[in-house]
Formats: sequence, C-alpha cells, structure tokens
Amino acid sequence: MLISREMVLDQDIGLNATLFGGDMMSRMDKVAGITASLMSHNRRFVTLKVSELEFHSPVRAGDIIEFYAEITRQGTTSMTVALEVKVYAPVSNARRDVTTGEFVMVAVDDNLRPEPILWKQDMVKSAGVEHQHRVASGASKSRKKKA
Ligand SMILES: CC(C)(COP(=O)(O)OP(=O)(O)OC[C@H]1O[C@@H](n2cnc3c(N)ncnc32)[C@H](O)[C@@H]1OP(=O)(O)O)[C@@H](O)C(=O)NCCC(=O)NCCS
Repeated sequence: MLISREMVLDQDIGLNATLFGGDMMSRMDKVAGITASLMSHNRRFVTLKVSELEFHSPVRAGDIIEFYAEITRQGTTSMTVALEVKVYAPVSNARRDVTTGEFVMVAVDDNLRPEPILWKQDMVKSAGVEHQHRVASGASKSRKKKA
C-alpha cells in the first residue's frame, strides 16, 4: 500500500551528493508509525525494532520518493511493517528500488506500556492485496539473493 510520497531537497543531501542514510531511516520510521496507525484504532505506537535495512541505490536532490508498506506479521501488541522505498519518475512512469526495511511497532497506552492492537482488518487486507498486485505487475522487484 502506498503510504506517502516526498520530494528530496538540496538541504537533505549529504557528503556524497546523495541522501544521508540517517535521513532515510528517519523518514521510514515515521512512515512505519503512520502505517501502524492506519491499520488500527490505537492512539500511539513506538518503534521496538528495525531490521534488514538495505540501501539498494542512491537518492538525489529532486527525486520523488515513494513509501510502500505491507503488514508481514500481526501480533497481539505488535506488528511488523515491511517498507519498500522507491524513486518515482513521473515523466517516464518508471520506479527504482531504493531502500527496504522491517519495523516492529508496538501499540502503547498513556504510560507507554504495551496494549492490544485493535485491528482494522480491511486495511491490513487491502495492503496485502495491493502489494500482491504490484508484484504481479512488475512494479515490485524481489530482492536479489546474495551468493
Ligand atoms: C516497546 C516497549 C514498550 C516494549 O516493552 P516490553 O516490556 O519489552 O514489551 P513486551 O515484552 O510485552 O513485548 C511487546 C511486544 O513486542 C514483541 N517483542 C518484544 N521484543 C521483541 C523483539 N526483540 N523482536 C520482535 N518483537 C519483540 C513481543 O512479542 C510483543 O508483541 P506481541 O504482543 O505481538 O507478541 C519497550 O521496549 C520500549 O519502551 N522501548 C522503547 C521504544 C522507543 O522509545 N522507541 C523509539 C526509539 S528511540
């Protein structure tokens, strides 16, 4: 499911004339939080764990980046959000894989203690269905296996 699109500006660019990796991690963390909120009736989520973060190709100033999310695990108080970030070129309608990662998000109460997730199952389902559609249409590339 497409969660958001953002423009990368000159001010976001680091030493190698590309987007700083920490900037991308911050953006992804926010998108994981937004995704968790969209999938549930809970008021608050915190990030428990980030894993399998992989930077596939660089991002430059002027690039439009897209954040796609899929819920890969539905727990009691936690969910795993798999994110794919792509650069989208509107002129050619082409997409390029940029970054992937997994975020474990925990629903918490006012005391920041875990509480059960109140799922919006229709949202979780549609995220999965849209993801499968993108895979079928070639918009989502599976990750290359390393030797
Ligand atoms: C998130 C936090 C509230 C969890 O507290 P906790 O006492 O460890 O909670 P629990 O042991 O009850 O686990 C909560 C959920 O996380 C899951 N979990 C715990 N450790 C995990 C791990 N290492 N990997 C994956 N899931 C894990 C548990 O299975 C449980 O999910 P479930 O109910 O769906 O099965 C606590 O660790 C915390 O406050 N962390 C800091 C969060 C934060 O500030 N994030 C911002 C980063 S600066």
